[in-house]
Amino acid sequence: MGTSEPAHPSHGHASSSPTAAASSAAERPAERPPVNLWTSNEHAQDYLGRADSILHRGEGESVLLELIPRTAGRILDLGTGDGRLLALVKTELARAEMAGNGHPQIEAVAIDFSPAMLEAAHKRFTHDSSVKVLAHNLDDALPAIGKFDAVISSFAIHHLVHERKRALYAEIYGLLSAGGVFCNLEHVASPTEPLHEDFLHAIGYTVETEDPSNKLLDVETQLRWLRDIGFVDVDCHWKWRELALLAGVRAAA
Ligand SMILES: C[S@@+](CC[C@H](N)C(=O)[O-])C[C@H]1O[C@@H](n2cnc3c(N)ncnc32)[C@H](O)[C@@H]1O
Repeated sequence: MGTSEPAHPSHGHASSSPTAAASSAAERPAERPPVNLWTSNEHAQDYLGRADSILHRGEGESVLLELIPRTAGRILDLGTGDGRLLALVKTELARAEMAGNGHPQIEAVAIDFSPAMLEAAHKRFTHDSSVKVLAHNLDDALPAIGKFDAVISSFAIHHLVHERKRALYAEIYGLLSAGGVFCNLEHVASPTEPLHEDFLHAIGYTVETEDPSNKLLDVETQLRWLRDIGFVDVDCHWKWRELALLAGVRAAA
């Protein structure tokens, strides 16, 4: 998502997708290391200051909440930020519990690598011992943290390079219990540059001011990856321009 940092041509449209023809190593210019500004305190605070005003996000979050099994007992939130999405899911599941069809004891793990975000998440869940906030860089393989009934994420995984996104999706599949769901409310690539620019304009940014940490990837590639990995009932359940809710289920055994 946007920031006032200068742009870097890493927003990953069709031409830079993993399906694009690769040039030989000898032809390629020296690759710049992937940019990820999210460990900067300023970057995190800038986002937290405008997180509530991201256009249409509430619609995507509402659909995501519908997809979480009401009986889910263990939840994992990847790139949790200040724990906003996890808090919404926990509230929804607590409601189900009150109505008599939820899990009596929910546990959650919230992962991030930004010191400012980890502090904000700790603060949000300070009186909630059911949530473990874990410092971990998603560029690295997920640690062994048990099985989950739902793995959720919002606007985080697009900061990883495409190869790592694909590997992470496979790790998520491995962490899900049978019948468990993966819900990724994500910032995805537009199919064309004009559509990308329109989106940026709609959210008050330009190609010069968009977040250079973004490594956007199209919806179709990501849905295909999820199916190839073994997820079933894979779909894009909601979309507004470059904001999309991708989800898949680990089939019941
Ligand atoms: C746009 S914020 C979204 C935060 C939160 N999920 C929300 O919806 O408000 C992106 C989050 O992804 C986290 N993030 C980005 N790259 C990461 C990485 N390599 N490892 C762990 N967290 C990462 C950032 O620190 C930040 O908290």
